Amino acid sequence: MCGIVGVTADPDQVPNVMPMLVQGLKRLEYRGYDSAGFAFIECGSYNLKVFKNRGKIDEVVNQYMVSNYCAVAGIAHTRWATHGEPNQVNAHPHLDCDSEIAVVHNGIIKNFAELREWLVEKGHQFRSDTDTEVVAHLLEHFNREENDFFTAFKKTLQMIEGAYALAIIYRGEPSRIYFARNVSPLLIGLGIGFNMLSSDIPSMLAYTRKFIVLNDGEYGYIEPYKVYIERDGELVEWRRRVTTITWSLEDAEKGGYPHYMLKEIMEQPRVLYETYTGLVSSNEVEKAAELLLGANKIFITGAGTSYHASLVFMYYSSLFAKEPVIPFIASEYTTYSRLADENTALIVVSQSGETIDSLQALRAFKNRGAKIIAISNVIGSSIPRESDRTIYTRAGPEIGVAATKTFLTQVLALTFLALRLGVDKGIITKSEYRELIERLKKAGEAASISIEKSSRIIERLVMKLKESRNMYILGRELGVPLAYEGALKVKEVSYIHAEAYPAGESKHGPIALVEPGFPVVFLGTPPLENLKEKLQGNVMEMKARGASTIIIGVKGYEDIRGADIVINTGEWSELLAPYAITPPLQLLAYRLAVILGRDPDKPRNLAKTVTVE
Ligand code: G6P
Repeated sequence: MCGIVGVTADPDQVPNVMPMLVQGLKRLEYRGYDSAGFAFIECGSYNLKVFKNRGKIDEVVNQYMVSNYCAVAGIAHTRWATHGEPNQVNAHPHLDCDSEIAVVHNGIIKNFAELREWLVEKGHQFRSDTDTEVVAHLLEHFNREENDFFTAFKKTLQMIEGAYALAIIYRGEPSRIYFARNVSPLLIGLGIGFNMLSSDIPSMLAYTRKFIVLNDGEYGYIEPYKVYIERDGELVEWRRRVTTITWSLEDAEKGGYPHYMLKEIMEQPRVLYETYTGLVSSNEVEKAAELLLGANKIFITGAGTSYHASLVFMYYSSLFAKEPVIPFIASEYTTYSRLADENTALIVVSQSGETIDSLQALRAFKNRGAKIIAISNVIGSSIPRESDRTIYTRAGPEIGVAATKTFLTQVLALTFLALRLGVDKGIITKSEYRELIERLKKAGEAASISIEKSSRIIERLVMKLKESRNMYILGRELGVPLAYEGALKVKEVSYIHAEAYPAGESKHGPIALVEPGFPVVFLGTPPLENLKEKLQGNVMEMKARGASTIIIGVKGYEDIRGADIVINTGEWSELLAPYAITPPLQLLAYRLAVILGRDPDKPRNLAKTVTVE
């Protein structure tokens, strides 16, 4: 999983594409950041230059003073290692033997080992351990044979199997960038006197608002004034596929906050409102619910945060629609897809729409005839495109690697879906449905009030928790998925080991670890009449072992005995509690990361979009 970008320009319009390459690549850093590299055609000399190394983009740019160069066309790459350790030789771009062809790649070439053997026999000299390098040598091989680079490119594509977004520059055709897409995302950005390629939209937003989302199996090239796309040897008519994006660039930037993560936590009130408005003014939810109604088995899946949103759906579906739903972690799809048939519906939750585990789950269910509903934040991404119906969240681009705002917008979209299913099944009446939807309008307000009420206390709390190596986050019912999500956030960005459990289950093992000072966070969710007394018991059990006890709850939990710190997020019903309980947990994770000197936007070993199984 990596990010790629490419730009080609008419020097009379854009005298130097280097700033576009560097800036574009920096916005892709969330996709991986263990090495970076550039290949470009230098202004004037038309030489092909390559700089690459291990390290974050800024480090590589500074090391080679890349920004001091002038280029008419170039490609660049930020890497998250799959094949071969992160070092200079394994960093992209990869070159052919004569260093005339440079390739950047996101994905995995499955059959690279055989291809490499074949090429080595033919005398090609490999420099790296990567799967990608075979592409450069295949191109070289066929280009020698055919003496036509595009034909060589097509022959190369016929040989490689797997997932790829490729961008290629060839010294013999200095203003052209070749590309191909299969599974891994790739888009073309259309400019005036230039065209560009990238793995996502935000990285191109500073330069253009017009995009073509490439489909699997498409390949071709861009030149400053030309876009040429083919599929299976046939010309693809792309003009009607051009979409204009209205996101502002500011949306994709930090908006004055020190980190994207904080910005994204803080903008939850707004994006929840935007998602709400989008959902009430489209028929996405109705169309998806129709599909669920026709199914006799419903599954829901996702990875990481998206899986936790799936668990919230299970809760609301039981509450409002009395509908059993089977949730599973996307990478475990084999066990569950066996149960699927044409009467099955699968809901696939994925903010990026590109997570390979979720995509594979989708495909396994689809192969058995199941109907698929996608919940995604990225228009035109793979999961929505392969689904029967899609409900879009309207969170705007999320740059922080740890998901924050997309989680709550997923929860909102899934709550709409559960309510619609409830009314369609006759479990709730039409007027109850209308009232509940009306109440959901306050999701953003719940987040906003909770942020206001909790920010200060969280700042104090992190002073207390920063030395801890471990913590528990416990909840009951609706509090359980929210606890899982809170613990994931703390782990991801602060590297403190946080574990979530159903509070009742904590007696069956986890409590053995508790000793004086061990932090235990309890989530006080509604309904109080069912949960408060039980949670009170769990707090006392932990307190008796000397735990440091913290409550993050809705109004009514303030008087819990044995609590050292209580964060009262306001008076919220079951419908709105996720929007109030989640932000303090996100802030806790964020503040812990900052106080411990971690980079919350780019946690070590993680990537925003995981496109390898
Ligand atoms: C990665 C990210 C997580 C995210 C998960 C699923 O692991 O680091 O933050 O929750 O992928 O991503 P998706 O785009 O499918 O929601």
